[in-house]
Amino acid sequence: MPDAPTATIPSSMLPTDGRFGSGPSKVRPAQVAALAAAGDPAAPVLGTSHRQPPVKNVVRRVRRGVAELFALPAGYEVALGNGGSTAFWEVATASLVRRRAQHAVFGEFGGKFAAATARAPFLEDPQVVEAAPGTVARLDGALGASGGVDVYATPHNETSTGAVAPVAQVPGARADGALLLVDATSGAGGLPVDVADTDVYYFGPQKAFAADGGLWLALCSPAAVERAATVEAGAGPDGRWVPEFLSLTTALANSRADQTLNTPAVATLVMLADQVEWLLERGGLAWSTARCAESAGVLYDWATTRDWASPFVTDAAERSTVVVTVDLDDAIDASAVVAVLRAHGILDVFPYRKLNRNQLRVGVFPAVEPDDVRALVACVDHVVAQLS
Ligand SMILES: Cc1ncc(COP(=O)(O)O)c(C=O)c1O
Repeated sequence: MPDAPTATIPSSMLPTDGRFGSGPSKVRPAQVAALAAAGDPAAPVLGTSHRQPPVKNVVRRVRRGVAELFALPAGYEVALGNGGSTAFWEVATASLVRRRAQHAVFGEFGGKFAAATARAPFLEDPQVVEAAPGTVARLDGALGASGGVDVYATPHNETSTGAVAPVAQVPGARADGALLLVDATSGAGGLPVDVADTDVYYFGPQKAFAADGGLWLALCSPAAVERAATVEAGAGPDGRWVPEFLSLTTALANSRADQTLNTPAVATLVMLADQVEWLLERGGLAWSTARCAESAGVLYDWATTRDWASPFVTDAAERSTVVVTVDLDDAIDASAVVAVLRAHGILDVFPYRKLNRNQLRVGVFPAVEPDDVRALVACVDHVVAQLS
C-alpha cells in the first residue's frame, strides 16, 4: 500500500479543471459534447464509414481548419495518417530522407527521430547536433552542407524538458535543396511559427489540439511533396521501395480525398475538428500563443520568486510556453508534491519519466485556463508549506 498523502488542499483552492498533463492533455467538455453529438443516431458520424461524407466532412474540417490556423503558404498541403508522430518519424525516414539527415537532439523526442534514421540501412549515419537537456541544440547548416545532409530535423518544443527552439530556416539549406522537418507534436497550436520556414511541420492531436493520440498531421511544402515523390519513385540512385504505410505520397493522396490510408479513430478526428474551430473562433494562433504564454508566465514568475523552486531551463529565451518545467529544491520531494496534488484531482504534473529530476512539469496548452494555472501554483505553495 502506498503511503497516504500527508498534506491536504481545501477544495476552495483547487482549479476548476485539474488536468495539466503534457499529453494527453486536457480535453474541453465541449469537445466531449461534440463527440456525443457525433454519436446521435439522428445524424451519426461515430460508427459510420470513413469513406462516406459524414466522416470525410470531419476530415475536411480538420484539414481546412488547420490550414487556416497556420496560414498555410501557397502550395503547402495538410496530410494526415495513423500512428502518431512516432509513425511520422518512420514515414520521414522512408519517404523524405534521401541519403542523410541532421538532427538537433536536446531531449528524448529529438533523440528518437535520430535513432530512427540511424537504424535505416539505406541511409548514411545521421549527423547529430546535441545539447544537454534543459538547453537547445541548433541545426548547423555548414556542417550539414559539408556532410551531404538533405534533411534537417528539430523538435519545436522538446516535451521531455520544456525547452523550445524557435523555428527558422537553416542558413544555406534551401539553396542546397535540403528540407527542414520540425517535430511540433507539443508545439503546434501553442507556439508561434511561420510554417513557410519549414518543409514539414508535423504534430499529433493530443497536446494543443486536446484530442486523443494515434494520428499524425503534417504540413508539407511543395519541396517535401516532390522529395517524397522522387524517393518513392524507386528509380535512380535516390529511389527505393517504401512500404505503403510509410509512404508520404500515399498519405497525401488519401488526405486530398479527406481520407486516411486505413481506418482512423473517428472520435479523435471529431475532437480535433472541434478544437481547431474553437481556436479559430477565438483568434487563431495569435490568441492561443498569447494564452499559453500567459499561463506559462504565471508558472515562471512563481518559480523565480520561490527560493525552493527554479525554472529548469535557465535561458529565459529557451523556456517553453506550452510545457513548463520547474525544479524543486532537494529538501522538497517533488514526487510527494505530485502525489498530494493527484489525490486532490490535480493530475499529471510529474516530470518526464527518463529525465530523473526533482521536478514538476506542467502542460499549459490552449485548453488550460490561465486562472487554473494560478490556482495550481497556490496549491503547490500550500502543499509545500505542509511538507517542509
Ligand atoms: C515532441 C514529441 N515528439 C513526438 C512524440 C511522440 O508522439 P506520439 O505519441 O504521437 O507518437 C511526442 C509525444 O509526447 C512528443 O512530445
